[in-house]
Amino acid sequence: MIISAVEELLRYDSPLQRQTRVAKEDFELAGKHICKGQPVLSMLGAANRDPGQFADPDRLDIRRRNNGHLAFGSGIHYCLGAPLSRLEGQIAIGTIVQRFPDIRLATPCNSGERTCRFEAWCRCRVSFSAVG
Ligand code: HEM
Repeated sequence: MIISAVEELLRYDSPLQRQTRVAKEDFELAGKHICKGQPVLSMLGAANRDPGQFADPDRLDIRRRNNGHLAFGSGIHYCLGAPLSRLEGQIAIGTIVQRFPDIRLATPCNSGERTCRFEAWCRCRVSFSAVG
């Protein structure tokens, strides 16, 4: 389940929430005219909560199947570090929950500090029983 859990965490709380592009030519996007040279901000985090794409998108479901999220972008700039990041997440989170099976948030999950460029928790208090 660690594989689907990491994918769901990437979808649910994407570390990179937005990315920019500059239009190479005039085009229409969802009824909007975009001019050549215009910057376009694509909201990856919003796309990853799109109800047209994900059932019950605001629910964290670590068993979610067919999780076609955009946390690593798409197309020719697709993240080069995606396989490494996935593996690191699986090892780190898998090891923590195995070693500390009763680990819990010690404060409400929206009370921590977040960075802005990368949407990440700077600090998150947890509690767990000491292991021998
Ligand atoms: C959870 C961790 C990570 C996330 C969520 C993430 C996300 C992303 C995203 C969304 C893009 C696309 C940016 C765009 O389209 O403008 C990207 C590109 C990229 N990422 Fe990551 N990344 C992560 C970790 C890493 C790591 C560990 C490395 C290197 C070891 C890495 C290397 C790159 C590179 C080189 C690109 C640019 C690829 C290109 O432009 O062709 N990333 N990443």
